[in-house]
Amino acid sequence: MTETQVWVDGRLVPAHLATVSALDRGLRSGEGVYETLRVRQGHSFRLGAHLDRLETGAGTLGIRIDPAAVRAGIAAVVAANDHLGDDVVVRVTCTAGPLDLTVPFPGTGAGVATVVLTAQRTRAPGAPPRPPARGYLVDLRRELPMIKSTAYLLSLVAQRAARAHGASDAILCDPAGRPLEAATANLAAVVHDRLLTAPVSAGILGGVTRAALCEVAAGCGLAVEERTLEREELLGAREALLTSAVRGVQPLVRVGTRAIGDGATGPVTARLRTALDALIDATAEPLVLSRSTDG
Ligand SMILES: Cc1ncc(COP(=O)(O)O)c(C=O)c1O
Repeated sequence: MTETQVWVDGRLVPAHLATVSALDRGLRSGEGVYETLRVRQGHSFRLGAHLDRLETGAGTLGIRIDPAAVRAGIAAVVAANDHLGDDVVVRVTCTAGPLDLTVPFPGTGAGVATVVLTAQRTRAPGAPPRPPARGYLVDLRRELPMIKSTAYLLSLVAQRAARAHGASDAILCDPAGRPLEAATANLAAVVHDRLLTAPVSAGILGGVTRAALCEVAAGCGLAVEERTLEREELLGAREALLTSAVRGVQPLVRVGTRAIGDGATGPVTARLRTALDALIDATAEPLVLSRSTDG
């Protein structure tokens, strides 16, 4: 079997040799940021927006990254793993690098990032399409929600609670118990002829896919309203959906014990999914393999 190749700080290495420092500050204290993006037939959608978010989040933590090097690394890790097929998820992880043990907590400025890039299949070969999501409301919220941080414990705990209750996705709530977003996706609801989604200022991640969804909504006959939904508004919505770079548009057909709409993928969600897929097909850009990173 062909071994998966991993990109570590500018080098492609077989997965079993892919290591970072035992003093890595990402390991010690979760000082890191990440991005997850889908690459289909060598093309990625809004890679620039993903890299901008990565660089901004890293900057907030004092971590310096080189977006051009990350971009080149993504092309290289996809090319090196062509045995995975032509629909892969690339994960970009940037941490604050090794800790200087002579400096007391919280240490010095972070400096240059340790960069790890992996590729994996989006779906296992022959797997059925991803089924509609079933949500479970969790009264937890992410710390520093605008940063896509590797400090992932909250999302993990929330997601495990959702799975334990037979749901696919935890839906995180604000302090008033209003639904904001899923643990790894943004949330939107169709109420009358409006698409409602919480504003970034409410404490959600500004999703790249959410932004694209808002762009295609008008063409689907929906006005976009950015405001936090009341819990009952979500439960009583005509339709609801989740978005992320990996899922695209995924219908949300149930929350807890309540069906959303008639509990199946609705026509508006189907239209939004088609419109988003068309935008992705029309505008996804080819990854460019540079000579110094072709493995
Ligand atoms: C908490 C959270 N919200 C939203 C998203 C969706 O963001 P994007 O559309 O940029 O993938 C993610 C993706 O991982 C996420 O972790």
